[in-house]
Amino acid sequence: MKELPQKLPVHLGIIMDGNGRWAKKRGLPRSAGHAAGAQNFRKITRYCSQIGIRYLTVYAFSTENWTRPQEEVSALMRLFRQYLEEALRDFRDDDIVVRFLGDVSAFSAPLRELITETQELSANRSGMVLNIAMNYGGRAELTHAFQVLARRVQEGSLRPEDITEERISSALYTAGQPDPDLIIRPSGEHRTSNFLLWQSAYAEYVIMDILWPDFRPADLDAALREYANRSRRFGGI
Ligand code: IPE
Ligand code: IPE
Ligand code: MG
Repeated sequence: MKELPQKLPVHLGIIMDGNGRWAKKRGLPRSAGHAAGAQNFRKITRYCSQIGIRYLTVYAFSTENWTRPQEEVSALMRLFRQYLEEALRDFRDDDIVVRFLGDVSAFSAPLRELITETQELSANRSGMVLNIAMNYGGRAELTHAFQVLARRVQEGSLRPEDITEERISSALYTAGQPDPDLIIRPSGEHRTSNFLLWQSAYAEYVIMDILWPDFRPADLDAALREYANRSRRFGGI
């Protein structure tokens, strides 16, 4: 087994994509792909926490995913409930802090309760921070942040010239967290699909031709090695 590199990303983002194609290849309904993807989310999350990733953000459901057929959206909502219940148990053993990025008010009352419970029960842990991006879109997040800041200007507690990059960052769902260093997109698509638009200004992207349910810890190791070999210049030389 190859060793993990010394230079690990502090904040890792994963776009969990390819569930539908995984199911199609097997002649299964798309919901079976989402179930397999959800299992893998559990496995890869625990692996990230074990190897010392400090922040992991997974993209689980975008603001645009509501446009999918009703049947698929319902299957995803059922899976979220099931997996959050399981996550409540196994992420406790791993000391994982669970946070949600996105507008969770759009979800059903039982799912919202689980989200609140998951966040509250894990808030005082000290291990890896897991951000689950659900009903998340980078543009929606920025729009929300600008509304918050505009309200403060209107109230007179903030001057327009005091709207800095730091204040915008602090008005995002990821407030207080470092920007992602590495974003992995399995399934081979070369696009952001509205993921962490502001925060990923200098993130390294690794696109992999593996569908998310097939993505193994060894694939993550390979992406981490690729990341460790990149030269990050942040506009400098
Ligand atoms: C990712 O897999 C899961 C969600 C977007 C909810 P997809 O469902 O997008 O799978 P593909 O891209 O169609 O294969
Ligand atoms: C991005 O995948 C969203 C998630 C993985 C949750 P999509 O499958 O929705 O993205 P597009 O439609 O291929 O851009
Ligand atoms: Mg997709």
